[in-house]
Amino acid sequence: MLDDLLKKIEVFSSLTDSALKEVKAQMKPLNLKADDILCREGEQGLSMYLVESGELSVIKYGKDNAQVEIARLRPGEVAGIMSIIGNETRSATMRAAGAVSLWEIGRDDFQKLLDRNPGIARSMLNVVSRYLREEIEVVAQLRTRDVDSRLKIALFDSKQYTEETFKEKNGDRYAFRYYESRLNLDTVALAEGFKAVCAFVNDTIDEPVVRKLAFLGIEKIAMRCAGYNNIDLKTCKELGISVSNVPAYSPYAVAEHAAALMLGLNRKIHRAHTRVREGNFSLQGLVGFDMHGKTVGVVGAGKIGQCLIDIMVGFGCDVLVYDARPKPYDNPKIRNVSLDELFSSADIISLHAPLFPETHHIVNAQSIARMKTGVMIVNTSRGALVDAHALIDGLVSGKVGSAGLDVYEEEKEYFFEDTSDNVMKDETLARLTTMNNVIVTGHMAFLTREALLNIADVTLSNIGEYEQGKRGYELTNGLWPK
Ligand code: NAI
Repeated sequence: MLDDLLKKIEVFSSLTDSALKEVKAQMKPLNLKADDILCREGEQGLSMYLVESGELSVIKYGKDNAQVEIARLRPGEVAGIMSIIGNETRSATMRAAGAVSLWEIGRDDFQKLLDRNPGIARSMLNVVSRYLREEIEVVAQLRTRDVDSRLKIALFDSKQYTEETFKEKNGDRYAFRYYESRLNLDTVALAEGFKAVCAFVNDTIDEPVVRKLAFLGIEKIAMRCAGYNNIDLKTCKELGISVSNVPAYSPYAVAEHAAALMLGLNRKIHRAHTRVREGNFSLQGLVGFDMHGKTVGVVGAGKIGQCLIDIMVGFGCDVLVYDARPKPYDNPKIRNVSLDELFSSADIISLHAPLFPETHHIVNAQSIARMKTGVMIVNTSRGALVDAHALIDGLVSGKVGSAGLDVYEEEKEYFFEDTSDNVMKDETLARLTTMNNVIVTGHMAFLTREALLNIADVTLSNIGEYEQGKRGYELTNGLWPK
């Protein structure tokens, strides 16, 4: 009987009869009943076993010490082979799954057999290499089970504050990878292996990038900003990519920043601050004006524009509004007017319309020519609403009294990055940043803690809705919340 068993076992199957006889001479019978432990993981392994009948359960300790049955050894299979030829400690616990009959061979006896019979050693090598292959497969299966099943999202143009707020709001819900690089044709390959990308204002998501994203299997682009002028929605729609934005993360943040620029420019806070730091307390050249009673023109009275209107009314200003879709106002201090009237009557002009072909360079040489001399122009919307060269000409001639710019048409090269080690090559931006009646901030109007948390919240809920097949702030299928 043992002869038949040995011939079925790979290690011994190719042995001559005399070699088999030698093996047999070293083997002792062993019988187990159900649940008997043959050996324990981690203990010294001084024997190898051949299963003659019954089954042995091979058990490992998994997470939190939970016992996991990783295999069953059946008649004709060998147990403990690794521990008698290599590491002496048992790699698993073996428990009888019922009545089991085994043959046992001791480590020392087996090693002597190997010395005497190179045929056994060759067979051993075969068996060991097969075991290794099987183990690799088991590891792969376990890893597959372990692989994160959460939706994977590549977040581009990440900053420390982005990562912090997304981590705070996301918890363990989605598997985010934060890339500092902006999304563009050079970096789009980083989206491989993800289902969604999360992008921001200065990412370039034009047709080639969208096509590459679709090729990589991206199904969702979650913009974490209000504007979407930097994304080719048409191609996204054509390729079935869902795109959402965050229409209102904090209109107050942006409107309050616009108001801050107005007050800063008017009361020359930037100049006063640097003077005082130098010990210069002279007030010469710092004369401002009362906001009260001035006329403020608001171009684009959406969420942000409306907040600014409220703030300006609070200051006692008269507000002229130009919007493509005007709303009625009860307050006599607020009036819908034509763009022409707004430009020619306002002391301060604040831009809050999105960047569309109709709003591109809405502030240009012709419109500036129609404005009041000394007008203040504030842009916290998108840089391309203003023709910067015409603005500089206006500032130099005195037609424009001051300008507050949170955005700039060619901002991509500079904004959001520390470029202080380099010489500024953009002469227009360099000119603007050195004029004492101009305040430039680097697209930071949105940057309040509340806004950042809202951005993360709405972006995550947009992604959640996409996952559930619902569509919230969806730009590619036109389903917007009421
Ligand atoms: P919104 O969509 O609520 O309002 C835009 C308003 O502009 C609407 O009332 C719309 O009817 C009007 N409009 C559209 N076309 C127009 C045109 N041709 N002329 C005049 N008005 C027009 O948008 P929201 O939230 O008020 O944002 C406005 C803009 O502010 C965004 O498009 C974005 O570019 C910019 N923004 C800038 C931020 C910053 O940090 N600097 C942050 C967030 C937004």
